[in-house]
Amino acid sequence: MRDTELRRQAIDVLRGNWERGHTVPSRRLYPHQWSWDSAFIAIGWARTSPGRGRHELESLLAAQWADGRLPQIVFNPAVARDAYFPGPDFWRSRDVPGAPRRETSGIVQPPVHAVAALEVHRASPTLGRLFLRRVYPGLKAQNDYLLRDRADGSTDARGGLVTIVHPWESGQDNSPAWDAELARVPADVQVLSAHRRRDLDHVDATERPTAADYARYVAIVDNYREHGYRDEAGAHLFVAVDPLFNALLAWSEEALAEIADIIGKPSEPHRERAAAIRDALMARCYDRAAGHFFALDRDGERVPEHCVGGLAPLVLDLPADVVDALVAGMTGPRFALNDRVPLPSYDLTGPAFDTTRYWRGPAWINTSWVVLRGLERHGRQAEAATLRAAMLNAVRQEGFREYFDPRTGAGRGVADFSWSAALTLDLLATGAAPAPAPRPLTGAPS
Ligand code: SER
Repeated sequence: MRDTELRRQAIDVLRGNWERGHTVPSRRLYPHQWSWDSAFIAIGWARTSPGRGRHELESLLAAQWADGRLPQIVFNPAVARDAYFPGPDFWRSRDVPGAPRRETSGIVQPPVHAVAALEVHRASPTLGRLFLRRVYPGLKAQNDYLLRDRADGSTDARGGLVTIVHPWESGQDNSPAWDAELARVPADVQVLSAHRRRDLDHVDATERPTAADYARYVAIVDNYREHGYRDEAGAHLFVAVDPLFNALLAWSEEALAEIADIIGKPSEPHRERAAAIRDALMARCYDRAAGHFFALDRDGERVPEHCVGGLAPLVLDLPADVVDALVAGMTGPRFALNDRVPLPSYDLTGPAFDTTRYWRGPAWINTSWVVLRGLERHGRQAEAATLRAAMLNAVRQEGFREYFDPRTGAGRGVADFSWSAALTLDLLATGAAPAPAPRPLTGAPS
């Protein structure tokens, strides 16, 4: 398939998922607005209709809470209240002072939005500084909330790492990195009898988190909701530090510094925060022997599971030997970089590896895109070209699927998934290389 045809198909997916001011990740499985999805989607809109990219980010920011948190889900009032679980009646944001008029969930997602805002601006600078002036206060408030109320408490005065308080906040819901911490949460699958999981209406159960996972996800929210979603003692049944989340936070601070320079605000504090987060990632999450960034549990102990998020700090300014080690890990047996299938979400050789189940192995376009930007930052052109080819090959062969079998490349999850289409538009706009010949999808990555 020619690039022009792939581009047309990607634009069709985004147009089909556009919903007056925002884009749903998927018409069937995710019928509302999701936070980090909107950021990746805006990056795609930037390549075809930057006005929609601006709407995408501004509609999300319109649902920001008074404390600065940018909610993981903004519910569309025009959609049936039970179309998605957990829906607005489960989160009950209207009961919380400081929540917006529009109903939302009470948790957050990885903060990649300032990066997206800068991409949207660069694609369409004709609007001058107006758009950046409008979004800067909300983007800054989002990071202020995280660094203030979610600080993991063990870093120096410059700040450092932030915690997530629900696996959903990582965006990598059922990653093996959360298994041990999640196991500490009481699981009573009976609680699910009061709810109906709508995801299983659309996707095979083998591709989704288990019932035990969902019981714990529900218990964590029940407890946080009872605390009015305040980050106070006892509010959190789950606490972890995610290297992907923190890498994106630091990258966003770098983007905020650039935005601040453009609109005439002080940028140095953002550069300092970016450096502090990067330094804390190096000190606490980087394992020199493994050559990988690991998640931390609530006690600050490293969780020695190799997840794709542990490669994400590549988007930051890192010492050359750390870059070399991450690239070696990526090309080795655990992640098996190849030009057919994007990076697996989890170690192909790991004990919890599963070819099919959501974030326990399947390859996702967004995490590969983050790593790709990191490779490009460090001038690793050969590896970047290989990863770019793999991402384009997967969507050419299987369409804009939600995720892919990391060994065969077979499409999994829903079809017409927005960020897969959006980031393809970005790849097509930024890649100088001609389209590679189609490659067979069968067999293990070489
Ligand atoms: N990833 C979640 C889900 O699967 C939402 O954030 O519903």
